[in-house]
Amino acid sequence: MTSAPSDTSTAAAASIDRPAVKDSLLQVRGLVKTYFNGERDLTVLRDVDLDVAAGDSCAIVGPSGSGKTTLLGLCAGLDDPTAGTVAWRGQVLAALSQDQRAALRNRHMGFVFQNFQLLPTLTALENVMIPLELRGERNGRGRAAEILEVVGLGERLGHYPAQLSGGEQQRVALARAFVHRPGLLLADEPTGNLDAETSDPIVDMLFGLNREHGTALVLVTHDHALASRAARVITMRGGRVVGVSGGPADADTAAAALASPVAREA
Ligand SMILES: Nc1ncnc2c1ncn2[C@@H]1O[C@H](COP(=O)(O)OP(=O)(O)OP(=O)(O)O)[C@@H](O)[C@H]1O
Ligand SMILES: [Mg+2]
Repeated sequence: MTSAPSDTSTAAAASIDRPAVKDSLLQVRGLVKTYFNGERDLTVLRDVDLDVAAGDSCAIVGPSGSGKTTLLGLCAGLDDPTAGTVAWRGQVLAALSQDQRAALRNRHMGFVFQNFQLLPTLTALENVMIPLELRGERNGRGRAAEILEVVGLGERLGHYPAQLSGGEQQRVALARAFVHRPGLLLADEPTGNLDAETSDPIVDMLFGLNREHGTALVLVTHDHALASRAARVITMRGGRVVGVSGGPADADTAAAALASPVAREA
């Protein structure tokens, strides 16, 4: 693996201004994403701003196709924006190599994909162990088993993804996303495949992580019960942020919310 992101002079040169908000983790400015498909360009994100501070919780809601998954992927540096910047603690992600971004993600972020993306040839336990193994941590097996127990899959450690239901796969993906206690958890429809009985304890767990470990949450969801528990709800439509609502818990996150204006007119 390559050196830490902050060691690179190119990356340092590309750093944007110090975040205005104390303990800002993620700073998104003027984000635009256009897909170039042959003759017709498709712009799916238009001038999106977003601030996420340590301990923040933020739900992103909006109709299908409004750009929620695209925004989440860009926040994690999984793809490059067409214009605008995403910065992690002032460090612009686009200035980092793929390896540096992967290292940053492994150190600081957990990501739950809308389609889970579990590795089919690994068991549930082995999938959850991946982030710990990437960090070279010992005792990964014990930690991974513990967290699978927490999400109610203690009896499924040796199952392969194909031997798990959709909801069970989702819970493995969640366990994998927070087994290494990231500072920021980005989750795309984390309760999308779960019934109320299964989703309630998972949602409690997510907000428990937020409360007890200060894990910042950015949750894309169609689930109003889940969105209502977040400090902020960001509504997207047609690739724009069209609304920010909710009561941030403290002055710092209030400042973050104010620094994240609703979308300007087209
Ligand atoms: N690789 C791609 N190439 C071209 N268009 C894409 C690509 N990925 C996404 N899109 C388009 O971008 C738009 C936004 O997609 P995105 O997945 O972000 O929506 P979403 O808000 O997450 O929707 P949903 O609620 O259905 O998951 C969609 O119209 C989609 O067709
Ligand atoms: Mg989506």
